[in-house]
Amino acid sequence: MLIVFHNFVVSITYEYMIKDNNVIIEDRQGEIIEGSQSSKHSDTKKLYIESYGCQMNFSDSEVVASILKEKGYSTTRNIDDAQVVLINTCSIRDNAEKRVRNRLTEFKKKKRDNPELVVGILGCMAERLKKSLLEQEKLVDLVAGPDAYRDLPNLIDEVGTGQRAVNVLLSRDETYADISPVRLDKGGISAFVTIMRGCDNMCSFCVVPFTRGRERSRDPETIVQECKDLFSKGYREVTLLGQNVDSYRWNISNKGEIKNPDKPTVNFAQLMEKVALVSPDLRVRFSTSHPKDMTDDVLRTMASYENICSYIHLPVQSGNSNVLTRMNRGYSREWYLKRIQAIHEIIPDCAVSTDVISGFCGETEEEHLDTLSLMDEVKYDFAYMFKYSERPKTLAERKFEDDIPDEVKSKRLSEIIEKQLKYSLESNKKRVGCVERVLVEGESKRSDEHMCGRTNRNSMVVFAKGDFNKGSYINVKILDCTSATLIGEVI
Ligand code: 5AD
Ligand code: SF4
Repeated sequence: MLIVFHNFVVSITYEYMIKDNNVIIEDRQGEIIEGSQSSKHSDTKKLYIESYGCQMNFSDSEVVASILKEKGYSTTRNIDDAQVVLINTCSIRDNAEKRVRNRLTEFKKKKRDNPELVVGILGCMAERLKKSLLEQEKLVDLVAGPDAYRDLPNLIDEVGTGQRAVNVLLSRDETYADISPVRLDKGGISAFVTIMRGCDNMCSFCVVPFTRGRERSRDPETIVQECKDLFSKGYREVTLLGQNVDSYRWNISNKGEIKNPDKPTVNFAQLMEKVALVSPDLRVRFSTSHPKDMTDDVLRTMASYENICSYIHLPVQSGNSNVLTRMNRGYSREWYLKRIQAIHEIIPDCAVSTDVISGFCGETEEEHLDTLSLMDEVKYDFAYMFKYSERPKTLAERKFEDDIPDEVKSKRLSEIIEKQLKYSLESNKKRVGCVERVLVEGESKRSDEHMCGRTNRNSMVVFAKGDFNKGSYINVKILDCTSATLIGEVI
């Protein structure tokens, strides 16, 4: 287990805990795509693309690579070979933006040596800062927001004719439904499938509704088709991705009315069932759920399919109802605890993880203690924990003062982390002596003599190397654990 301290983020991460949900994934920050070569073999154009932020951004970079592959670009890991350099960015906390700015300054130096190089910024920071990145700061030649990726070939051409190119239009219907993403991990077994984009929730601390626009769902047929294709290529696990998967709806308006009576409607529970039916050997996960929208229907569907994994990421953010009201989360502590109770009643042995923010505007010591006491009640299996970072334009920035001193935010955060470490260890200790069905992911990154894989509840298991293929299911008896990993032997 590794605890990573940053200016604003403190997350309990582990080399294996990288594929869980929509939060920032420390190990993957700055990851570079290297997919298959362009189908247009006469072309030699090279694209270098680096990604930051949440899982959605990593998936979007695969869509971008696919759009540009059609135009003759192949991806490279070597920036010095590239004609086009793109950076897909995150705005969720201030430190995420600082990291990207440092990278852009390095790219600027490359551009000084090679003036023909096209440097572009994509994603949430592009959407948030728009033209200022081109005009005031002159850090990049091209700015494209999350709904403008189909326009990238034109934008690159515009830069080629000496212009600076911007498209930050947000769309009400773009889902890139028809684009088959270039997968990073050739021969991989776990893939992310975007099922919806944007967010309509307006949590007061969150910049996402401003950078990713209105919520919209992707055509379920294209989702199921993508999952079938992945399965046929050897993938054995899909994670359905959205900012709020419980509000997935197809052919249903946001007022709940059927849009086209001649066509079927699909909600999240039904979508999950369709994906589960692709094959009993395809594990299905999803992220992120919202406590105000998670229905018993979804829980019952999870309980009725063995291949839908017993793991729910249900961000609470705070254990105090007044703070939750200021955060505009749409639920109280009591409501949240009832959802946890429903999970345990309907899906026995379901793992639950959460996101917590310390030091939100006006948070009193008593309110903070309520977060700690909620953690005592729920006993989460994992948690992602953050210090509040004020974001421009959000409701909180406009309505409240960011009045909790940094030392107090840090102190509260360390209390939250300390508690979570205790419960993560407790959760893992309960598995010692059990036999777990593990999907083999490959070699352990930390030891040449070990392999690793995940349980249904999303715990990482390491075990001695043997003749096991990636993507196969094996039974492992758990012998020992840390707060982040189970250690076992194959039986
Ligand atoms: N400051 C700190 N944490 C934040 N998150 C979102 N916005 C902020 C912010 N302004 C956290 C929430 C969310 C997760 C993805 O990031 O906990 O669930
Ligand atoms: Fe942000 Fe809230 Fe939407 Fe999550 S649900 S993306 S925290 S506004």
